[in-house]
Parts: sequence; C-alpha cells; structure tokens
Amino acid sequence: MRILIINGPNLNLLGHREPQWYGNVSFETFLEELRQRFPQVQIEYFQSNSEGALIDSLHQLGQQADGIVINAGAYAHTSIALADALAAVGRPTIEVHISNVFARETYRHHSYLTARCIGCIIGLGLEGYALAIEYLLRQQNS
Ligand code: DQA
Repeated sequence: MRILIINGPNLNLLGHREPQWYGNVSFETFLEELRQRFPQVQIEYFQSNSEGALIDSLHQLGQQADGIVINAGAYAHTSIALADALAAVGRPTIEVHISNVFARETYRHHSYLTARCIGCIIGLGLEGYALAIEYLLRQQNS
C-alpha cells in the first residue's frame, strides 16, 4: 500500500515551532518512526510552504497513492484550491491537525478540506498521522 503524507506551511519547523501546540519532535524524526511502525506501507512525504506546490504534489503523487494523509496547516482554513485538488484526485483522504484547532482561535475552526476527506483527526499530536495510516490500512484490508 502506498500512502502520501502532505504537510503544508510552517510544518517544516516542527520540533522548534510553538512546542506548546506542536511538541518538540521534528517531522523527519517522526517519519522514520512511522516507516518503522508500518513496514508494509510505502510512505511518500511531501512538505511545502507554497499552496501551488502542494496542489502540484497532489496532482502528481496523489494520483499514484492508495490513500492520502494531509495536514495543510493554515491553508486548511483558506484554500478552496486545495479542496478542489483533493476532489479532483479523488483518493481516500484523512485530514490531520496536530493541535486541537477547536481550542484555538475561531478562524481555525473551519477547514475547506474536511468535506473532501473521509474524516479528520484533530488534537492528538503527531500520533494523528499514525492513526490515519492505521485507518487507511484497515479500510484497504476490509
Ligand atoms: C495545524 C493547525 C493550523 O491552524 C495551523 O495553521 C498549522 C498547524 C495543526 O496541525 O494543528 O499550521 O494544521
């Protein structure tokens, strides 16, 4: 099984950025752990701070993926274009937010992506990505 993880803007700074919300582990470190935990899954990873690059990656890498896990960062709250790209690619997708966006500013309470996803995992830290992969795996094997 092939799963594409997409991280949006500022998530390259995980481990340093606002640790009270995002913890102190870098995504690269966590990605290694994910690959060890799910040896049966080919995990592709793409991060960009640019909306267009995220859309291009969905078009290019998303087409070949059996499932997508996306944390679009702040673009979740603003980007109809990313939501359209998810709809166009049409792969089973789970939206992840590391922090509990509902315990934060109201502008973080809405995501344009949610309606294009099977579901969301919000506020469970980096573990949300692992839970998303587990769910996609289970769905494929059922
Ligand atoms: C985030 C939540 C967003 O509101 C924020 O802009 C981020 C990270 C999260 O993972 O909790 O960049 O997506």
